[in-house]
Amino acid sequence: MKLGILTGGGDCPGLNPVIRAAVKTAIKESHQILGIRNGWKGLVEAETVTLDAAAVSGIIHRGGTILGTSRTNPYKEPAAIEKAKTNFKKLGLDALIVIGGEDTLGVASKFHKDGFKVVGVPKTIDNDLSGTDVTFGFDTAVNIAMEAIDRLHSTAESHRRIMVVEVMGRHAGWIALHSGIAGGADIILIPEVPIKMKEVCDVIQKRLDRGKHFSIIVVAEGAKFDGHEVLFEKKLDEFGHVRLGGIGELLAKRIEDMTGFETRTTVLGHIQRGGTASAYDRVLGTRFGEKAVQLVKRGEFGKMVALKGTEIVAIPIEDAVKNLKTVGPEYYDMARTFFG
Ligand code: F6P
Repeated sequence: MKLGILTGGGDCPGLNPVIRAAVKTAIKESHQILGIRNGWKGLVEAETVTLDAAAVSGIIHRGGTILGTSRTNPYKEPAAIEKAKTNFKKLGLDALIVIGGEDTLGVASKFHKDGFKVVGVPKTIDNDLSGTDVTFGFDTAVNIAMEAIDRLHSTAESHRRIMVVEVMGRHAGWIALHSGIAGGADIILIPEVPIKMKEVCDVIQKRLDRGKHFSIIVVAEGAKFDGHEVLFEKKLDEFGHVRLGGIGELLAKRIEDMTGFETRTTVLGHIQRGGTASAYDRVLGTRFGEKAVQLVKRGEFGKMVALKGTEIVAIPIEDAVKNLKTVGPEYYDMARTFFG
């Protein structure tokens, strides 16, 4: 069999371990495997790279994706999707392994419905894909954010300041919640729960009352300020997403106005996505990559590999992209116990 493999959407620590595992497993199973460059764009433009043992040697510890990525949606342009379909055939592909988040896998699901053999691998640092307990990249992002929160504690305390840390998380607050819990943040604000400024100020005041002259606030970029998302720019990408960013600064200003506390903001941004993956994400990526090739071998197309408990299972891609996995109220209330 000749397999194609592509990575789409925002890059994510753990992508290279998936590619490496898929290539090594494919070779072991005597399949050929071809890298498609830059996500779906590479299939539209027939940009490929040969993947053999040498190509994946020494990449398990490397961040990003050796294949490149893009947020291309071939279904936006009838001509583009036709080119992708023609190129799939021209390249002699029997099946395609698609590694991506809701958008990239949404395209994979349509492509499969259009008659092409596709297997999905879930990817996003936001951890918001339903169908899998965890996506690789999330653990790394949480650890990076936690380390930043740890570091901000000493400077916050020295200056008697409020520190706002803005982390990624477009629709789901998983990174904010987990890094905030792990880093002992005093308040965690997420897209799923409306921000109550009174609660924020009360926590800061209560800490002051017990002699704590500083507070750490973690906010997800997608949290709503006065009920609205804060946009870095309005321009939409090919999947209709705006670019978020800026809530940290707005929040800091509001806190300063309401409490009189000097407040600073740190935006972690793409530091959460860049660089080497944690051991957990490397192992999860490896297990996903291996399983994806096994699904091809068994002819289980239109499916996505997923982590359920401790097992790697296969579920329909369609089900995985139907709903986003967001933070539930009970889980958030548990975290609230530790505010302040
Ligand atoms: O979807 C993953 C993600 O990292 C989001 O958390 C974030 O909003 C977005 O990608 C940033 O995208 P870009 O790299 O295109 O700015």
